[in-house]
Amino acid sequence: MTGVTDVPARGTCRICGGDVEEFLDLGQQPLSDRFLEPGDVDEEFFFRLTVGQCSTCTMVQLAEEVPRHLMFHDDYPYHSSGSSVMREHFAGVAHSLLASELTGADPFVVEMGCNDGIMLETIREAGVRHLGFEPSTGVAEVARAKGVRVRTDFFEESTAREVRAAEGPADVIYTANTMCHIPYLDSVLRGADVLLAPDGVFVFEDPYLGDIVGKTSFDQIYDEHFYLFSAGSVQALAERFGFELVNVERLPVHGGEVRYTLARPGVRTPTQAVNRLLTEERDQKLTDLMTLRAFATNVRKVREDLVALLKRLRAEGRRVVGYGATAKSATVTNFCDIGPELVSFICDTTPGKQNRLTPGQHIPVRSAAEFSAPYPDYALLFAWNHAEEIMAKEREFQQSGGRWIRYVPQVHVT
Ligand code: SAH
Ligand code: TYD
Ligand code: ZN
Repeated sequence: MTGVTDVPARGTCRICGGDVEEFLDLGQQPLSDRFLEPGDVDEEFFFRLTVGQCSTCTMVQLAEEVPRHLMFHDDYPYHSSGSSVMREHFAGVAHSLLASELTGADPFVVEMGCNDGIMLETIREAGVRHLGFEPSTGVAEVARAKGVRVRTDFFEESTAREVRAAEGPADVIYTANTMCHIPYLDSVLRGADVLLAPDGVFVFEDPYLGDIVGKTSFDQIYDEHFYLFSAGSVQALAERFGFELVNVERLPVHGGEVRYTLARPGVRTPTQAVNRLLTEERDQKLTDLMTLRAFATNVRKVREDLVALLKRLRAEGRRVVGYGATAKSATVTNFCDIGPELVSFICDTTPGKQNRLTPGQHIPVRSAAEFSAPYPDYALLFAWNHAEEIMAKEREFQQSGGRWIRYVPQVHVT
């Protein structure tokens, strides 16, 4: 290594224009949700996946931005309803919005990134006026087939203005696992400002930096996850665009998330939870570069341990397959250089991923049925965020002597 590579790279914050210092380099990475047909492998897109933090507003963000049409298109394979736990979670979100926010004469809720309608289907059943924004046409069609109203478009300032003009103000703008996907949050927040009723709320939930650092879950970082939010960085973001952070709730889903509620300043009294989480982040020095650099060291240790384990198992002649062809697994397999010689295939319930190859490493994806034909010796759990649901349905695997390999929060076999 020459001295030049030891100098941390710097960039410009996508939110506030401040200096961004990089603390983690995950190398060349493909589009995390682009599963290839066997003939597609020559034209694969790669970008450099590095993560930094803004010294002004503390926002943790990627250095390189992947054009949105490469990620979100008619063939986008992620279907939110593939997990029963997530179906229950979003039915719960809908019921709670219906009970607390959508109680007026003719309430209106807009969802960004409604995907296959997992949340809005419950809103529709309640007969409440709604609109989902979903640019990926394949999943949008699935939502429509459930009777959900969908606009096949990106939410941003211009499209939000059109909805405001045609349909009036929204009482709630809700979005899950989508805000962190959007580099152009300035446009989104200006759009929210135009569309939201004076006393409306803008609610979003995304993977939480505190959980990612705490569990070394570096696989939450990939092309689609452009930001890793904390209460501190979201508060700064909200204030910059004329909103106030009025509530935060920690959520157990997807390995640990936070639901943030924004309102117009002074309209709602911030809950104590906001100050509690801000204080906790300060006490734990969550957004100090020292902490983030220590996280990067832990990430490299996970890589070392995981690769050593898989190579040992291969040398012993054990059969290892992957479980869950997640977007997260693209980061793990490409950062650790894990290909089909270490993990012979990955099983997944998503039809659009099956019989294709994983991005970058080209590991075959097979149906869930092939997991037990016969069981492998070891299964590497890429969908670790759905561990309870998966362990419950795959009890027989362990009962017949199979072992799970996990790498969050560190590499271990159970
Ligand atoms: N809300 C769902 C889906 C999350 S995946 C869930 O939590 O499971 C992110 C979704 O956001 C994708 O379906 C993608 O097509 C969509 N998306 C990306 N950019 C968007 C934008 N600017 N506006 C609306 N949806 C967007
Ligand atoms: P998920 O972890 O939700 O998201 P991401 O792709 O953003 O990392 O993806 C879960 C994947 O695992 C999805 O492709 C469906 C698959 N899966 C199964 O194969 N079996 C299961 O029981 C569950 C819950 C998911
Ligand atoms: Zn900044």
